[in-house]
Amino acid sequence: MPRLPRAALLPLQLALLVGAGAPEASVSAPRSLVWGPGLRPGVVLPVRYFYLQAVDSEGLNLTRSPPGQTLFKVVIKSLSPKELVRIHVPKPLDRNDGTFLVRYRMYETVSEGLKIEVLYGDEHVAQSPYILKGPVYHEYCECPEEDPQAWQKTLSCPTEEPQIAKDFASFPSINLQQMLNEVPKRFGDERGAIVHYTILNNHIYRRSLGKYTDFKMFSDEILLSLARKVLLPDIEFYINLGDWPLEHRKVNETPGPLPIVSWCGSLDSRDIILPTYDISHSTLEAMRGVTNDLLSIQGNTGPSWINKTEKAFFRGRDSREERLQLVQMSKENPELLDAGITGYFFFQEKEKELGKAKLIGFFDFFKYKYQVNVDGTVAAYRYPYLMLGDSLVLKQDSTYYEHFYMTLKPWKHYVPIKRNLSDLLEKIKWAKENDEEAKKIAKEGQLRARDLLQPHRLYCYYYRVFREYAERQSSKPEIRDGMELVAQPDDDTSVCQCHRERPSREEL
Ligand SMILES: *[C@@H]1O[C@H](CO)[C@@H](O)[C@H](O)[C@H]1NC(C)=O
Ligand SMILES: *[C@@H]1O[C@H](CO)[C@@H](O)[C@H](O)[C@H]1NC(C)=O
Ligand SMILES: *[C@@H]1O[C@H](CO)[C@@H](O)[C@H](O)[C@H]1NC(C)=O
Repeated sequence: MPRLPRAALLPLQLALLVGAGAPEASVSAPRSLVWGPGLRPGVVLPVRYFYLQAVDSEGLNLTRSPPGQTLFKVVIKSLSPKELVRIHVPKPLDRNDGTFLVRYRMYETVSEGLKIEVLYGDEHVAQSPYILKGPVYHEYCECPEEDPQAWQKTLSCPTEEPQIAKDFASFPSINLQQMLNEVPKRFGDERGAIVHYTILNNHIYRRSLGKYTDFKMFSDEILLSLARKVLLPDIEFYINLGDWPLEHRKVNETPGPLPIVSWCGSLDSRDIILPTYDISHSTLEAMRGVTNDLLSIQGNTGPSWINKTEKAFFRGRDSREERLQLVQMSKENPELLDAGITGYFFFQEKEKELGKAKLIGFFDFFKYKYQVNVDGTVAAYRYPYLMLGDSLVLKQDSTYYEHFYMTLKPWKHYVPIKRNLSDLLEKIKWAKENDEEAKKIAKEGQLRARDLLQPHRLYCYYYRVFREYAERQSSKPEIRDGMELVAQPDDDTSVCQCHRERPSREEL
């Protein structure tokens, strides 16, 4: 629906831009910059991506989109005319700050290679054309790199992951027999949401413990994706698919804590955390099943800062009491805050009083200058997307965290607000009165998030957790009673010729 009026406005906007006359800065194609993992054949991802920085003829970076329609264009073809491949290359995403994000999804593998042309009008940009020497694999090709170190190097994985180091500090050694005895009893009851995985020779086996394990489709898909790319260590572990982290035993207690793997951590639990199923799934399904993912969000951050509505914004479900409080504050202070509940489940009796807000597309959140991030049942999984936008994030203090929170600092990357929201209005007023400072924090937060939340970094993170885990196992992982193989897809999406020898199933 909102499309219609916008489309009707478009010719007018273009007319205004053309009427505005000479562009302020002209882009120099040869001086502009192109970089990123999507230019390296070895970085196999569901959607590959790289970046573009527009630079003018003086060598200065543009800090806003070049005026008018973007003239950047990317053409990707197979090097060999004999190899026909389907590659989906949408228009570069304009990040509104002089940089662009180019994405492409390959539906087949090419053995000879790829040619990537980056053009500005008819001119080649930077070192274009880029030649990616084959083989260049597509997501579903099962062709794990057998040298994990080489794989990590190809992905430029960071050498330090402070959250992982912290998580494993509680577990110098992991006793698989003890886990086998205890985990099903402690966490695998009726209400359990635990899946027990064993990875052996890069094959994935699992059994469900408990009733609420439908979300194993999310853990399965990312494990399979990882196993297609790199040889995983042999490991046996337990993923908690429920919302809340589980292990509340303290390190110095007897019996001690168990290294349960979860998507969300908290200060009073010892779970080892992984990137959430939300960002993992949207990374896998980007440019097809989902509209909101770590990349698409970057090209949909609404008007420039100066043109955003100067209010804090919130829409969400009623999964925590403070969210209802937000709505109440919004009713009393409409000039500062626009907050609404879009669905009632936990506090249905409140609906009459507070009302239900219409659903609004996530990209439209960024019409507002300030975004309020309040926990849901646990950490709000929208936080990564909010941080990737160009609004200022006001984050509720929380004991819950995701895998990347540790490196984000209050007052540098976001503005903290008290858990009971008692200082929220004051903080919004501060932001309005200190616009330059607010804008700076928004930008720093966005830049940090753009770095931390690159899809390839999620793969680095997963791998690193499994490696750390594997190193601590005090015995060999086994395929346990009741486990079944989680097979790689073997339909025509997965057809490819892997240049490495495939581990054959018969070896087992
Ligand atoms: C220009 O942009 C590139 C890429 O965004 C960045 O690495 C570089 O530091 C910028 N140069 C200046 C002078 O800001
Ligand atoms: C803000 O909006 C006005 C009116 O639509 C537009 O002319 C102007 O270019 C915008 N400013 C920025 C910095 O985008
Ligand atoms: C909110 O929490 C703070 C501590 O963070 C406390 O000092 C204050 O009294 C609380 N306010 C209300 C209204 O509960």
